[in-house]
Amino acid sequence: MSICNCKLIELPKITDPRGNLSFIEGGQHIPFDINRVYYVYDVPGGSDRGSHAHKNLHQFIVAMSGSFDVVLNDGKETKRFHLNRSYYGLYVCPMMWRDLDNFSSGAVCMVLASEHYDEADYIRDHSEFLQLANS
Ligand code: TYD
Repeated sequence: MSICNCKLIELPKITDPRGNLSFIEGGQHIPFDINRVYYVYDVPGGSDRGSHAHKNLHQFIVAMSGSFDVVLNDGKETKRFHLNRSYYGLYVCPMMWRDLDNFSSGAVCMVLASEHYDEADYIRDHSEFLQLANS
């Protein structure tokens, strides 16, 4: 999997004077069916999240509130994405090392995932990741 497979995806936005509305349908706006939703919030200033990769998991990351950066590495190339709007998100394919940093205060990071939680799908050792990604 190359970092080129990861991309920002703009979501539908129904603008309305009463408040805007965006929506995400699995397999339609993002290239996988959604089996799990989780969110990270109350992140203390200066904290980082992530620092792992997944063998098979597809994810879509949205800044529901505030902002943060997602840094992706495919074993060769690194790209930094700044997320700060709730009407677009970052699609992350399997076998991407990810670091999340630069959280603003009040940031909420929502992640849509293609599979239920499975610790066996994680690669938490960076040298093991580099070995697998480049093999
Ligand atoms: P982790 O995925 O390492 O967090 P992040 O990538 O946001 O830094 O998960 C942190 C802890 O939460 C870890 O002990 C596993 C647990 N967890 C679940 O139980 N279910 C889940 O869906 C997720 C994402 C994590």
